[in-house]
Formats: sequence, structure tokens, C-alpha cells
Amino acid sequence: MTQFATSATREGVSLITLDNPPVNALSGGLRAGLQAELDRAFSDPAIGAVVVICAGRTFIAGADITEFGKPWQPPTLPELCRIIEQAPKPVVAATHGTALGGGFELALACHYRIATEAARVGLPEVHLGLLPGAGGTQRVPRIVGAEAALDIITSGRQVKAQEALSLGLVDAVVPEADLAEAALAFARQAVADGEKCARVRDREERIVADRQNPDLFAQFAAANARRFKGFAAPGAIVEAVKAAVELSFDEGLAREAALFEMLVESPQSHAQRHVFFAEREAGKVPDLPADPPLVDIGSVGVIGAGTMGGGITMNFLNAGISVTLVETTQEALDRGMGVIRRNYEATARKGRMTDAQVEQRMALIAPSLDLGALADVDLVIEAVYESMDVKVDIFGRLDGIVRQGAILASNTSFLNLDRIAQATRRPEWVVGLHFFSPANVMRLLEVVRGAATSKTVIATAMKLARRIGKVAVLSGVCDGFIANRLLAPRGAQAEAMMLEGTPIANIDRVLTDYGFAMGHFQMMDLVGLDVIGRDATERTVMGDLVAAGRLGQKRGAGYYEYDDKRRSSVSAITEGLIAEVAAARGVHAKPTTGDTALLARLLYPVVNEGAKILEEGIALRASDIDIAAILGYNWPVYRGGPLFWADQVGLPRIVAEMRALEAEHGEAFRPAPLLTRLADKGASFGQSA
Ligand code: 3HC
Repeated sequence: MTQFATSATREGVSLITLDNPPVNALSGGLRAGLQAELDRAFSDPAIGAVVVICAGRTFIAGADITEFGKPWQPPTLPELCRIIEQAPKPVVAATHGTALGGGFELALACHYRIATEAARVGLPEVHLGLLPGAGGTQRVPRIVGAEAALDIITSGRQVKAQEALSLGLVDAVVPEADLAEAALAFARQAVADGEKCARVRDREERIVADRQNPDLFAQFAAANARRFKGFAAPGAIVEAVKAAVELSFDEGLAREAALFEMLVESPQSHAQRHVFFAEREAGKVPDLPADPPLVDIGSVGVIGAGTMGGGITMNFLNAGISVTLVETTQEALDRGMGVIRRNYEATARKGRMTDAQVEQRMALIAPSLDLGALADVDLVIEAVYESMDVKVDIFGRLDGIVRQGAILASNTSFLNLDRIAQATRRPEWVVGLHFFSPANVMRLLEVVRGAATSKTVIATAMKLARRIGKVAVLSGVCDGFIANRLLAPRGAQAEAMMLEGTPIANIDRVLTDYGFAMGHFQMMDLVGLDVIGRDATERTVMGDLVAAGRLGQKRGAGYYEYDDKRRSSVSAITEGLIAEVAAARGVHAKPTTGDTALLARLLYPVVNEGAKILEEGIALRASDIDIAAILGYNWPVYRGGPLFWADQVGLPRIVAEMRALEAEHGEAFRPAPLLTRLADKGASFGQSA
């Protein structure tokens, strides 16, 4: 008996209970504890079978990710799986919660699997830049066939118990309360039947069928090329599943192990593991008490039914929270309600929601033309356009309308939250909730803490973010908060290089090669140049494009030309405008540099801005800045975010190259003090927290 594994004998069956809170990760201690209990059960003649079950909220949720990159303590997980699969007595896995990754692989090595009705199983390793390394790529195709296995493993999706049952991934589904007894009964029956232990490794039927279709793998890779672009893990998964079909079980396992080793050492997997922990760290605010008082959010008011207000509203409807949606005119209100309805109906058409669910969600909205309708809500989110005067007016009025003890939030993306808060007599109840467009899709929520915002309000906002499926990052007050401020220098450099004569297609390609889904100018065209509409003090290419009616993709022309399938091509008109604007502003052409230098010029200023945001205390930690970039601006997850990437490039190199860029292009490249200090010390952003 160890702290991680205990056993009790129940009528000839050993019930082994694993306990490693919070998610029963398969740490070295847990593996050793389980092995000891298995040895005991296998050598005890009075024991006929074994049930493995977990304490707490879930069955094993995977290998212990914190152990990756360190030497494995025996037994390794593949060894443990082999011991179980080859056991002389039936072993039954009794799963509840989420049996994920190595946890599900361990269950697959057992001879039988019982799951509760609410249980899920899955192999999410792909999200960590990995493949299942304990037999998952070999056993799953033996049960469900290569095609379904590829879907499950490359998506990393969680398979619900009923689907798992119909696929044969589990053998029985039982009510939560009956799990242990049902698994014990199953084990006893297996002993009574006296049949050979059912080993997944011996199942050949599916594999033999898949051998008839050798093109399956190339077809799957081609069909998913867009989704997999830039990522190493999906290709390795395809290779491992192919090995399951083409090789013997043991050879396939060896292939899987080699691919796992390759991936676990790769910069991509390091980056994705960093992101996994960074996402969870972001929710933690050090100066909040352990159990802070919270405002109970049962109803929300949203002011503004435009693109942002509508998207924000949908988040709450999806979580079952009612929303009072306020607009100034009936027309704007009807338009906003119509957009929300059409969004849901489109989801229903794709089969991801029923018609009844569409109606349930719409029924949660109370549309209104009167701010007075917000008197009793628990949280108000203002999402009108970015004008300080308008926001000050609204908050002043809200102060006289909304009940005391409710939270007043602004979705402002760059205005000074403290000035907005001062428009009320309760600035401690005012907070920024900055959503990213489209607000019902993007996972980032910047929670902006004003000078007076109370701890109760911050704690409530952080918790609420989780409830509506967002990742909250806490930001201090500054122009642009974290994500917009961080990425602004990338745009400034893209535009400067454009005027110096670098083709915009080159600039965009360097960004997409790095892993962004689209380049700077492609993104501008997608959002709409009139929407971005900055009040420029000098002549800009964007201003000229807007004046020429080239508003972006929606008009078939912006920086690029678009055909009816939205495919882009270079525009001679834009090239002409760029040359004109450069001449008018006295910008001299510079020779175009290679891709590496282009990338450095675009992204080092982002790293530098991140250093300033960190040093000013606007962000709590470097990893929060990475999360803001990834979830707010689609920074490629396999780069780990700008500051993680900078650490991988090496801070001394970045500082040296920035000094050279500063000599040529000026102040925008002056290394921030924190960046220089870390580089001088040989330290990293990762160590700066
Ligand atoms: N290893 C180490 N720590 C883990 C972990 C793991 N596999 N899974 C979760 N944790 C930690 C989290 O970091 C968090 O720590 P914190 O409280 O200090 O921040 C804590 O457990 C709770 O996690 P969540 O906040 O995510 O809890 P939720 O209830 O929201 O979600 C979960 C639970 C669905 C299990 C989610 O934690 C999850 O998806 N975990 C990762 C699952 C996974 O990726 N498994 C595969 C691992 S790789 C593997 O198995 C390789 C093998 O093939 C060889």
C-alpha cells in the first residue's frame, strides 16, 4: 500500500484504488504504487481478478506532464501497460470523469473497460505536440479501425461514454453510483466464464480490413492538410497508426515509442506544454484570498447589440445565463437580435445544435430600449463604440440605475478604465471585460483591473470567464491593454516595410510561414479597412484604399484583389498607391531583406513590447502575455507565444540584433530595460516570473 494506490479484496477480486489528486496523473509514485498492488494481486492465489478504479473526480487524466523531459522512473507507462495486458488474471478498468492520454491507454491495456454514463475517454496528446506513447496508436485502430482512430487521435477529442460503447472502446456503461460494484461483478463473471483474458493486441480483424485500403493514410493527411499545417504531431500520428496496420503489434509499439521520443524533445511540444500550464496559471491572481467573496452572476445586461455586443451576449446564453440586451433604436436592436439568431441557426444547420436549443437560447434574451431595464441584473457589460464621452455618459447613468452590489464592466479595447470608473460613485465595482472579435469564438478575455477595482469584482470576473469558456488574463490599465498593445508594433513594422518597398505578399508570407493563419495585410482585409479606420494624422495607404472604396475582402478589393472564391492576388492599384504614399511622405526605398531578417523586424518589437508590459506590471507574468497573444491574436500555439519563443531564440541574440536594427531604423528597436537585463544575466522570460 502506498499513498497513491491501495487495495481491498472483495469476494476474490482485488479492488485497486488510485489516488493522486487533482486528476490522478500517472506520476512515478502512482506507477510504482500500482505496480506493487498488481504484483500482490497476481501472486495471491486467493485473487481471481483485478479492478483498477480511481478516487476523486476522475479516472487517470494522463501521464504527469511535469515529468516530461526528465528521466523516467520505473516502471515506465509502456512497461506498466505490458504488465497489465500480459497479466495471468483479468484486469478491469473502472473509469469515471475523464480517462485521457496515458490514463485511457492504461485502460486499453486492461482486458475490460467499464465507464460511467458521464465518463469520457480520449487521447489529447496532440494538443501537447505529442502522440499517445503508451500503445494508444496501436490499440485504438485494433478496436475501431484506422480511419476512426485517426479522427480520435489527431483531434484529441473527448469521446462520450455512449459513443465509446458503440465504438467498442468500452465494454459497458453503468450509472455513476454503481461503478465499483458493476466492475467487480464484471470481473467475477470473467473469472467464472474462464475465458482467456481479452487482449486488444491480439485483435486483427480491423487491421486486416484496413490493409485493403493502403491509400487511406495519404488521403487522410491530404484532406486535413490545412488543419495540420505547421504542426509536427499529426503527421507522426498518421505514421504511427499506419505502423499499426502494416507492422506487427510489437514493431508498431516500437515505432510509436520512437516517434514519441522525437516529439517530446521537440521545440513544438515544449511550447505546447508551456501553453497548457500557462493557460491554467493565467487564472491565478496572487493577491486574492484563497476563498474570496464572489458576486453570484445569475443575469447579465449588455449595452450595444452590434458585432461585439452580440458576440458577448452569445457567451452568456450558451452558459444558460439570461441577458438583457439594450440598444438605442428598435432598428439596431432588431438587427442585433437577427444576427444572433442567424448565428445559432447556422450552427444548427451544421448539426451542432438542435432547433429547440436555438429557441431556448433566444428565449434567454430580453431585448430593451431602456437602460432602466438593467436595474436588477448582476453584471452590466457596456459594448458601445470607443468614445470616452459616450462611455462616461453611460456609466454615469448606470450609476443611478443599477442596484448596488452589481458589477459594471466596459468592453473598451484601449480607453482609460479609471476615467470610466470615475464617472460613477462606485469605482470599486467597475472592471474592464475586454472580449476579442468574434467574441463568441475567441477564447481570450482580458480582465482589466482599475486602480479602485475590488478583489471581489476581480475574483468574480476570473471565475465567470471559466464559466463562459474563456481564459481570463488579468491586465492593468494602459493603452491597448496586453494583446492589442503587444501586437501593435508588428503592424507598425509591416506598414513601414511596405512603404520602404517590401512587397506586402512577402511580409504576409513570412508571417504565415512562421505559423500565423494569415499575414498582417490579409488580416486587415478580412476585418475590413473601414472598420479599423484609424484617425491618421498623415496620408496612409489604408486611408487611400478606403477612399477608393477598397474596403477589404467584403468588397473583393483591399490591399489585395479577391476573386469570387476569396482567393487573393497582388493588386497593381495598391502597389501604385504604396509608391505614391511613400513619395508623399518622403520614405526612401530600401533593399528587401531575407525572410529571417524580415521576421526579426516584425516580431522582435513584439517581444520588446512584451518586456515593457511585464516590467510595468501590466501583466502578472510572462506566460500571461504568451496566452494573450495565442488566444487573442492566434499566435501559433506551437511557438508558445512571443516571450516563450524569444527565450528559445535566445535573449542575447535578440538584444544584439535589435541594437543593429535600432541603428538603422531608430527608437522602435531600442531594447527595453528588462530585456537587456535578462539577456545580460543569461536569464529568460520564463525565469522572470
Ligand atoms: N499532468 C500534470 N498535471 C496535470 C495534468 C497532467 N496530465 N492534467 C491536469 N493537471 C493539473 C493542472 O495543471 C491543474 O493544476 P493546477 O491546479 O496547479 O493549475 C490541475 O491538474 C487541474 O487541472 P484543470 O484545471 O485542467 O482541471 P479541469 O477539471 O478543468 O480539467 C482535465 C481536467 C480535463 C483532466 C484537464 O486537466 C486536462 O485536459 N488535463 C490534461 C490531459 C492530457 O493532456 N493528458 C495527456 C497527457 S500526455 C500523456 O498521457 C502521454 C502518454 O501518451 C504517454
